[in-house]
Amino acid sequence: MSLDKEAAVDLKAYLKDKRALIEQFIEGYFKEPIAPETLHEAMKYSLLAGGKRIRPVLCLTAYETCGGDGGDILPQAAAIELIHTYSLIHDDLPAMDDDDLRRGKPTNHVIYGEAMAILAGDGLLTEAFRMFSASETISPAILLSALRELSSAAGLFGMVAGQAMDIISEGKAHDVKTLQFIHRNKTAALLKASVRIGGILFNAGQASMSPLDAYGEAIGMAFQIVDDILDITATTEELGKPHGSDENKNKMTYPAIFGIERSKAMAKEQIDMALQAADCLGPKAHWFKEIANYLLERSN
Ligand code: IPE
Ligand code: IPE
Ligand code: MG
Ligand code: MG
Ligand code: MG
Repeated sequence: MSLDKEAAVDLKAYLKDKRALIEQFIEGYFKEPIAPETLHEAMKYSLLAGGKRIRPVLCLTAYETCGGDGGDILPQAAAIELIHTYSLIHDDLPAMDDDDLRRGKPTNHVIYGEAMAILAGDGLLTEAFRMFSASETISPAILLSALRELSSAAGLFGMVAGQAMDIISEGKAHDVKTLQFIHRNKTAALLKASVRIGGILFNAGQASMSPLDAYGEAIGMAFQIVDDILDITATTEELGKPHGSDENKNKMTYPAIFGIERSKAMAKEQIDMALQAADCLGPKAHWFKEIANYLLERSN
């Protein structure tokens, strides 16, 4: 088997293992009934519908690259997935991207109605902070710093700002600065925070935090460029979400401004930067390198 293929097989097993840890934790966490039952069901519907779980995997990988055991930070890593899932539920609402398929299933509002979908998103967002902050082993100062990182990236200094700009920019004249603002905030911010939070929870020093930061930013930008490309090149079946959603809404995307080939080259540039940053993290960073390559090559 070629080295590349061997790495891919290993990465597949690595991702499967980490995803299973996160999913078991989330399933256990939401086992007890929550009233009203419909709200509980609606949250679980989107949360347990699958998904790549890349954000919590990145968080665990960062923590382990620094020298820790990912099993010690499952609530914090899983909390990031709750925030991500809330963002997907709201992103699909009729008032936003108006999409009816997500993770291969009808979107939350299609099944539960708009009001319950909004509340399921609110519930996941808020519960994420309760889940994240409930730790008897991590020092309060470290938890506080990690929580600040998460709230910045998910909120006004990250995803919410990016999502707002994405909506405002629908159908507007192309502008590269605006495009970069959208991608950096709506997507890269939470991916970068996922990586950084792994480092923060380990109490890593600047020598590790700087490359973690650079890695997170680069894969974060690449992630949304690839998402934009896949919206055009992949099928609805492959994506588990509607093909062509961006064009339908006249979104400001990388392919809309630069075309597909240049966008692919730009995603690769970001991944090359991520690989360079990972080099500064020493031999343990090989999972980061494999994840970076996978994020460029992914088909969903
Ligand atoms: C989709 O995220 C939304 C973006 C930020 C591009 P993912 O591609 O990580 O979606 P899931 O979690 O695998 O469904
Ligand atoms: C959304 O970007 C990013 C989020 C914060 C949810 P998109 O609108 O392109 O994500 P998809 O393609 O619907 O998953
Ligand atoms: Mg959107
Ligand atoms: Mg969308
Ligand atoms: Mg998209």
